[in-house]
Amino acid sequence: MIDRRTLITTGAALAGAMAAPRAFAAPPKGFLWGTAGAAYQIEGGNVASDLWAMEHVKPTLFPTLSGDADDVYNRVDADIAMAASFGFNTHRLSIEWSRIEPERGQISLAALAYYRRVLETCRKHGLAPVVTYNHYTTPRWFAAGGGFMTQDGIAPFVAYCDLVTRHMGDLMAVATTFNEPNINALLSWGPDMRRSAQGLPAFRQAIAAALGAPNWASPITSDPHVQQPIMIEAHARAYDAIKTASGGRIPVGITLALNDDQPFNGDMSGVLRKRSEVLTPWLSAPGDMVGVQNYTRSLVGPDSNMPDPPGTEITQMGYAYAPEALEAVIRMVATQTKRPIYVTENGIGTEDDARRVAFIQRAVQGVLHCVADGLDVRGYIHWSLLDNWEWTQGFGPKFGLVSVDRQTFARTPKPSASYLGKIAKTGRVA
Ligand code: BGC
Repeated sequence: MIDRRTLITTGAALAGAMAAPRAFAAPPKGFLWGTAGAAYQIEGGNVASDLWAMEHVKPTLFPTLSGDADDVYNRVDADIAMAASFGFNTHRLSIEWSRIEPERGQISLAALAYYRRVLETCRKHGLAPVVTYNHYTTPRWFAAGGGFMTQDGIAPFVAYCDLVTRHMGDLMAVATTFNEPNINALLSWGPDMRRSAQGLPAFRQAIAAALGAPNWASPITSDPHVQQPIMIEAHARAYDAIKTASGGRIPVGITLALNDDQPFNGDMSGVLRKRSEVLTPWLSAPGDMVGVQNYTRSLVGPDSNMPDPPGTEITQMGYAYAPEALEAVIRMVATQTKRPIYVTENGIGTEDDARRVAFIQRAVQGVLHCVADGLDVRGYIHWSLLDNWEWTQGFGPKFGLVSVDRQTFARTPKPSASYLGKIAKTGRVA
């Protein structure tokens, strides 16, 4: 998320290998097709969030403010109806903890009612809600108290998950506790990210000083080595809480950011070590499913990603254009776990919607190859429904199947929306 430019390297060209005709299976009944969004990136006005505070501290990592974002908070019913009109049967969304609990222990019944209505609207339009309890952002008070850098962060998160499940768990189809809790570990493999990570302590200090919060720890800027075991424990306890509060009905898991890691010069040592950092620990945590989130591939040297070879097609995020990476990642994850796999994010930042259509075609073909080979893949959820606020990159990269006018917030579907919708309706790639 923050800037994965440096993670993107190209490896051996898969395209040739993938060109041969392959068998496709129709996706199984109940296969989920849809789009995703995350509260902070689309709702607008999430003023009680740690991110809002960080956006406004100087110097900031976030030169473009999220502000009203896509004003989804006021337009969510129409957006959900629009997603359904394309032909999808699922919708992935996140709940903004800072709206539910803007100050510690102060619960907003209005916010609980709002998200319940969002899930009801999904159901009304035939979209099975895939709900993420935490998509990077936490309440400001939580970050000020040390976030997930301290064991004290576990109980408030578990209580929030319990509360949300009791209020709307009956409407959820799938629940994931954390979105990409492995992102910091993944990012640390980019050589440039290592350099910019050196600036993070200074940024954290600036925030701590500006906000008068010496223990400030927002998950997306915190040290993964300290934070990861605490988040794993938080996930495990939240898993139990969600299972209990839902009577065991909802499949619960996490989503993981995964690149198709390819060995540089045939040396697998880096690929294996990276996997042991970004994947293995999370598969040891409890879960009924794994959410796979893939955007690109990386060429991995012994201890960091290697640069893209000249001539590589690079997307707006600085990633190598690699739609086949998704199939490779699904196959790799399937060698590591028997849990059902859902593609919970896959997409491309581009102004050229024809490139998006081509990307979807090749990526979804890869998913169907996996299904044909008997892998337990249960859904393809595209990132994203709307062009949205891309964290440190502001409103620049365009991931949406639908564009959003930055002055009027008017939505305009792109050809890729009906393209993926047709796949969803027919189960076939045109
Ligand atoms: C994140 C999204 C982000 C997307 C595209 C994913 O890793 O979950 O929040 O917008 O990447 O950069």
